[in-house]
Amino acid sequence: MKIQTIATRPIEGQKPGTSGLRKKTRVFMGPGYLENFVQATFNAIGGAKNKTFVVGGDGRFFNARAIQTILKMAAANGASKIIVGRNGLLSTPAASHLIRLHKTDGGLILSASHNPGGIDQDFGVKFNTSNGGPAPEGVTEAIYDQTRALDSFDIAEAGDLDLSKVGETELGSMKIRVIDPVADYQDLMASLFDFDKIRELFASGFNVRFDALHAVTGPYAKAILEGELGAPKGSVVNAVPLKDFGGGHPDPNPVWAHELMDLMMSGDSPDFGAASDGDGDRNMIVGRGIYVTPSDSLAVLAANAHLALGYKSGLSGVARSMPTSAACDRVAEKLGILSAETPTGWKFFGNLLDAGRVTLCGEESAGTGSNHIREKDGLWAVLLWLNILAVRRQSVGEVLSDHWANYGRDYYSRHDYEAIPTDVANSLIHDLRSRLTDLKGQSFAGLKVSDADEFSYRDPVDGSISEKQGIRIWFEGNARAVLRLSGTGTEGATLRVYLEQYAPPEADHQLDAQSALNTVRVATADLCRMEEFTGRTNPDVVT
Ligand code: G1P
Ligand code: ZN
Repeated sequence: MKIQTIATRPIEGQKPGTSGLRKKTRVFMGPGYLENFVQATFNAIGGAKNKTFVVGGDGRFFNARAIQTILKMAAANGASKIIVGRNGLLSTPAASHLIRLHKTDGGLILSASHNPGGIDQDFGVKFNTSNGGPAPEGVTEAIYDQTRALDSFDIAEAGDLDLSKVGETELGSMKIRVIDPVADYQDLMASLFDFDKIRELFASGFNVRFDALHAVTGPYAKAILEGELGAPKGSVVNAVPLKDFGGGHPDPNPVWAHELMDLMMSGDSPDFGAASDGDGDRNMIVGRGIYVTPSDSLAVLAANAHLALGYKSGLSGVARSMPTSAACDRVAEKLGILSAETPTGWKFFGNLLDAGRVTLCGEESAGTGSNHIREKDGLWAVLLWLNILAVRRQSVGEVLSDHWANYGRDYYSRHDYEAIPTDVANSLIHDLRSRLTDLKGQSFAGLKVSDADEFSYRDPVDGSISEKQGIRIWFEGNARAVLRLSGTGTEGATLRVYLEQYAPPEADHQLDAQSALNTVRVATADLCRMEEFTGRTNPDVVT
């Protein structure tokens, strides 16, 4: 094998965001762009020599090409072995599991998650460390530093590898093992859940619709739900991963999974609806006529996880990202277990999971997961719900009503203002930051601010500090608003406004969420001078 050392120059802006490096696909396809980032990653971890990695992606446009490049670069950098999904496919949770199962030195996951795919859409690369989780900030900083100092990358001169068949092959002295992307993940799920009980549930006529949104979870859901658990053929729809996800956003929320939503809200819906995102780590849960917010889903899962085999001895704790509602804190309090609040992004859960401090984690952005891997896991959440329903023999609506009657309801919604000029978004946040201390005691739209701060996090395990993680405003009457800028966008800025209003157990829990949140919405818009700064009166996306 001949190794080429290609001269290069640092490329601006290769700073990993909330979840790896995400850019327009054409940017990634530009000369040296992917190569620089991959070389910087290898350099940042002390080189790839004699190391093993998992490589795979969600199948979006450029996935296959990028994988060929990565394999050739790994070989040139001296890696000893790569485990790659057949045809380059691996869901993010399956990749995380494989890193752990085979004790590799990490993995490269190719995806821009729920962002659309295609030559004019988005692409991304993320490095996960040997615990299976997204690289922590120390590592992403080191990668970024390397991108700014790079002057060459190494790549093997070789033809493309055939990744279409399971088996072993070689590139120079590097072994490449092509594996079935589903099998190991399926075994893991079987070890966590009572598949017999779920099988009985389906056999009793309970029906489900899983919308894979033309993304990577199609093959996983088909094999597990229809294949192993006996859900009727056709329960999993849009199950073939497409390079452009059929032109939509593979984002499991009521906006982008509206076909599923319409079906579930129609008079004639299945008992249970679910969807997952581009790379399979997010989930959406819908019952007949009722949408479950991700924050509520986390709380319900925390309260009921002991009903599933893998969690029958209980949870050590629950963690949620700061903007996620307090619903799971209430469960943790009742269970007498730790509840942790971390900045946005799955990487912050890694240390807590590794240290055994928490068992379940979740984010308001449709991510839920547990200590079985170090990523959020869409299909896992669906299976845990099914396991709970199979034991409780209640509908999704009944489980939720019971939950609210016990703990109260945290009405919750996220309002996104997209494609705001970056300087405008920064000024709004800056202005708000400068007024934080004065806000306390002031009223907006009749709501009095009881406290306000900017979230900063000290990791209790490694002591690292992450500052400026979002502005929190609490109002009298148990309401809260959080404002932060997205770290995953590829154009302009997205301002996320997270709204929350608690209604205690004895209150009415059947209000429409947007109506229940209207006062806090108006107060927050007023308080942050939304219209003055952005000219916007309404969000682009409400979830
Ligand atoms: C978004 C979500 C966040 C999630 C991330 C990766 O990040 O809000 O919860 O971890 O995508 O899936 P953001 O764009 O808000 O930085
Ligand atoms: Zn994702």
